[in-house]
Amino acid sequence: MLVALLPGDGIGPEIIAEARRVLEALDLGLGFEEAPVGGSAYKAQGHPLPPRTLDLARRADAILFGAVGDPDCDRLERHLRPEQAILGLRKELGLFANLRPARLFDELLDASALRPEVIRGTDLVIVRELNGDVYFGEKAMRTTADGLREGYDVMSYNEAEVRRIARVGFETARARGGRLCSVDKANVLETSQLWRDVVTEVAAEYPDVALSHMLVDSAAMQLVRDPRQFDVIVTGNLFGDILSDQASMCVGSIGLLPSAALNDAQKGLYEPIHGSAPDIAGQGKANPLATILSAAMMLRYSLAMPEPADRIEAAVAKALAGGARTADLGGTLTAARMTDAVLAAL
Ligand code: NAI
Ligand code: MG
Repeated sequence: MLVALLPGDGIGPEIIAEARRVLEALDLGLGFEEAPVGGSAYKAQGHPLPPRTLDLARRADAILFGAVGDPDCDRLERHLRPEQAILGLRKELGLFANLRPARLFDELLDASALRPEVIRGTDLVIVRELNGDVYFGEKAMRTTADGLREGYDVMSYNEAEVRRIARVGFETARARGGRLCSVDKANVLETSQLWRDVVTEVAAEYPDVALSHMLVDSAAMQLVRDPRQFDVIVTGNLFGDILSDQASMCVGSIGLLPSAALNDAQKGLYEPIHGSAPDIAGQGKANPLATILSAAMMLRYSLAMPEPADRIEAAVAKALAGGARTADLGGTLTAARMTDAVLAAL
């Protein structure tokens, strides 16, 4: 099995190196091949997603991705920005289904900014659509007739796109607690009205799943008021992006949340939900657990190795139970020492 490692920018290389140590310690016979992506690829090769990187991503059985984003690249034309690399990979590989679990480790009840009685028992999955919405619609910067600068990004979904992600939402709910909450903005947006109609149609195929609908502004409020009410949330690209960062605070830190981006063939790209964190890059402060847990999801979903995936997750829980904490969790461990704690638990 070949794993493509795409470290990227900022803390990306630091956290990918830690996740690789964990995978190697398990001795699973995996092969690793690394390629540049994002701002570092732009600086070295003039493009954030060079052809050889895309080729490796296509050849590999699974992709473990760090993060992209580099303040030096903020003024580049849009198509050369580091972030285009992750959007390009998602689109080129058809990775439309993004699973973002947020489960509270009991040991971290004290690490969240939210009160323990609010977050105790939080265990939800956000199913985010990843190939459409305002991220991929027509976009431009122009000057209006009266000389004002104007930017626009077109938000759209067609019914086939909604139907396939809705099915992933229902399947995920069926395999868990049987409750699906579809989040949209149907009171204002046509895109969302279609979303709501199609999700409701698909519900007929899943009589065993309880479907509810929620407007996104209300969902943002409910997520911090009572996160336990959610089992599976299915939503579009933009709303899912925002709500998953928010959900990370219900479980302690954005440095903890892994994700899987899958296509129809269960080919997957696995990455932490956070970005390149330029404010802490190069200081050894990054929490590697989101990436280590992403590696576990990779073993489970793309490499058919559920047993070592369980072992990694158990080792992370044990390390946290033993008091291992990086700075984002109120501790002092570096990324490498946190990984050492996970390896010791393994
Ligand atoms: P960010 O997620 O990189 O950082 C937000 C905050 O969380 C920062 O204070 C950071 O220090 C902290 N943080 C993030 N990951 C952490 C970790 N593992 N351990 C401890 N603390 C952590 O989001 P931000 O700052 O808005 O964006 C930075 C860059 O990342 C931008 O260029 C953005 O476009 C890019 N980005 C890339 C993503 C990707 O590659 N998939 C996703 C999100 C943002
Ligand atoms: Mg995000």
